[in-house]
Amino acid sequence: MITLDLIRKPVTAELQAYDEFVERQFTAEGELLSEMLHYALTSRGKGIRPLLVMLSGAMNAAVKGAATGRRACLAAMLVEMIHVTSLIHDDVIDESDTRRGRPSVNARWQSQKAVILGDYILARNVSLGLQSGQYDLVTLICGSMAALCEGEMLQSECAGKQEMNRQKYLDIVYKKTAFLLGISASAGAMAVGATRDKVTLMRRFGEALGMAFQVQDDILDYRADAQTGKPTNNDLREGKITLPLLVILDKSSEERRKELLKLLGRCHNEDDAVHQLQQIVVEEGGLEFAAQVMQSYIQKAINMLSEYEPSEYRSALINLCTYIVERDR
Ligand code: IPE
Ligand code: IPE
Ligand code: MG
Ligand code: MG
Repeated sequence: MITLDLIRKPVTAELQAYDEFVERQFTAEGELLSEMLHYALTSRGKGIRPLLVMLSGAMNAAVKGAATGRRACLAAMLVEMIHVTSLIHDDVIDESDTRRGRPSVNARWQSQKAVILGDYILARNVSLGLQSGQYDLVTLICGSMAALCEGEMLQSECAGKQEMNRQKYLDIVYKKTAFLLGISASAGAMAVGATRDKVTLMRRFGEALGMAFQVQDDILDYRADAQTGKPTNNDLREGKITLPLLVILDKSSEERRKELLKLLGRCHNEDDAVHQLQQIVVEEGGLEFAAQVMQSYIQKAINMLSEYEPSEYRSALINLCTYIVERDR
């Protein structure tokens, strides 16, 4: 089993510099905001996005072993803070009470304050980006904020109407997750002055990885044995049709499809309905099918790395691909 610690190894120093950079830069005014910000920043996630920035930066650096530097730290902070905000707001939208194994910000301080904290982090993030003068990076991350909102809105619209198809699902996944992972990988390359072709290649690599990452997240949502630190079956409770359920709906007769959607409609309030629908999806192979889709994205991502010479960074990125397929957290 590949661990994140193993993948982080070649960029340990860079990630340490990034941690210190965030601690120095990311502060808040006011007692309550400071306390909430501290809470949000000390609950550690996997840190996939900064890791992607650093590995992509190191792999694309002109001089082997050259430190990726301050611009990479800034890029890593910009993308991770967009992500942190999206989770704070996402838990409000999804009415989710647990995140990273702790009460979500909305569970601890209520939704109103969680929304404000999210906005504050976004505002500070863009402001720190602008102060640094690295406008190309700031432009890139502003685009990812817009994409995230588009994805969340589309998802919410689809859940409300109980409407979903493969194209829409993939569009949502692209906008809410793959886009930012693409930005992370390309920002790493930009931070070390890679060529435009390499920046584009990294963007496509990150996006393929991101598609796989979100499909896996949707699979893990169905698995009670997962270690995500998030509630299980939250997608069903929120009426979301993600890939595992979508494939079951697609192969059902019109009559059964209606029955299943009716069951889904009851999931918001009835544990029994959640349990029943989850069983159907698991027993009828919804998770295995989704896993195949995830695999095909991962294979695409790995193939893109063949443009690079073998190096410890390239190996780490290949391991990251495998990790995403195998992960249960
Ligand atoms: C969770 O992202 C939300 C998705 C985009 C699937 P992560 O799984 O990267 O969250 P953390 O940062 O590790 O908590
Ligand atoms: C991903 O969607 C969240 C964002 C990219 C904002 P989910 O709602 O599936 O994320 P989790 O499962 O709560 O982390
Ligand atoms: Mg959620
Ligand atoms: Mg999820």
